Amino acid sequence: MLNQPITLTQYLIEERRRFPLASGSFNSVVLAVALACKALSRKVAYGVLAGLHGQAGSVNVQGESQYKLDVLANEQFLQGLQWGGNVRGMLSEEMEDPWLAKDTDVAAGDYLLAFDPLDGSSNIDVNLSVGSIFSVLRAPEGGRSIRVEDFLQPGARQVAAGYALYGPSTMFVLTVGRGTHGFTLNPELGEFLLTHPDLRVPEESQEFAINASNSRFWEPPIRRYVEECLAGRNGVREKDFNMRWIASMVADAHRILTRGGVFMYPRDTKDPAQSGRLRLLYECNPIGLLIEQAGGRASSGEAPILQIAPSGPHQRIGFVFGSKQEVERIERYHRERVDEVEPDTPLFNRRGLFRSMG
Ligand code: AHG
Ligand code: MN
Ligand code: MN
Repeated sequence: MLNQPITLTQYLIEERRRFPLASGSFNSVVLAVALACKALSRKVAYGVLAGLHGQAGSVNVQGESQYKLDVLANEQFLQGLQWGGNVRGMLSEEMEDPWLAKDTDVAAGDYLLAFDPLDGSSNIDVNLSVGSIFSVLRAPEGGRSIRVEDFLQPGARQVAAGYALYGPSTMFVLTVGRGTHGFTLNPELGEFLLTHPDLRVPEESQEFAINASNSRFWEPPIRRYVEECLAGRNGVREKDFNMRWIASMVADAHRILTRGGVFMYPRDTKDPAQSGRLRLLYECNPIGLLIEQAGGRASSGEAPILQIAPSGPHQRIGFVFGSKQEVERIERYHRERVDEVEPDTPLFNRRGLFRSMG
């Protein structure tokens, strides 16, 4: 008997046995996403030879310049998922409005897909890790056509979430609500193999990730946390910390799933019109579910990320995730800050207070 790891397809079939009435539609969604990721992995691996370095010359709904690979990755996801008839709507970072199945197709799909087709785009041209992130939600029952509001479900309602990491090896990391599992692409077989079953985020850690160039815009709870880490063994934490920042959340999340740590892209005062950098529906929620399914914690800093009711398809939010004890500490620092506010101070003054005292 060969002792080789099972494939992603085998894993999904095993999981499906728990639901005797399942149609196979869910597995088709995940396998179609995995196929799109394999195709992207090849493009990324060819690098500049694929002619896909550089900017596309367009701007997305976020006001960000699109790279050629952002546009191609978006197309890859759309094409890969449209033909199967298993999704009724798709929301992407790169499209202002979601793709919605035609009314004539509505009976076909039980699921909605939200995705960031290429995460960490600024890393493409410097040949560093990038990835893709996805979130699977249930489509409303009754077969009616989809509206954008149907995507506005709290992250706790995700049926599945995952990412592909196009690193030195390509990995596909998935949760269907029963743990978080890592699959490595065997390029010769063209198959993802279960190499990292049941990933666990260590509860404690001594490593943090934050873009420190934003420090002058941070609110006091984050400033306090980072200052205490920097003080190391001479400070209240009584131990030295290490720091990493890859500028690709997928890659940072993968490191944290592998050896622990905490990631912060907090709400700050840099752009008062935005309440964070990362997008709730296709960045924070899927990574949040993967982290929590691995025993870690994911938060806006103030509330569990998976409990937040989304206000819009491209909503941004502060995001903190990783080792449970560190995230709980950051949440506590936010609560302690709130406790310091005079009881009769309206809550909406809070950010103003943070700014003036920062
Ligand atoms: P995207 O490439 O999809 O726009 O996302 C990039 C995100 C995230 O992956 C990363 O952690 C963060 O933006 C980096 O932001 P800074 O450039 O501000 O560090
Ligand atoms: Mn992203
Ligand atoms: Mn992106």
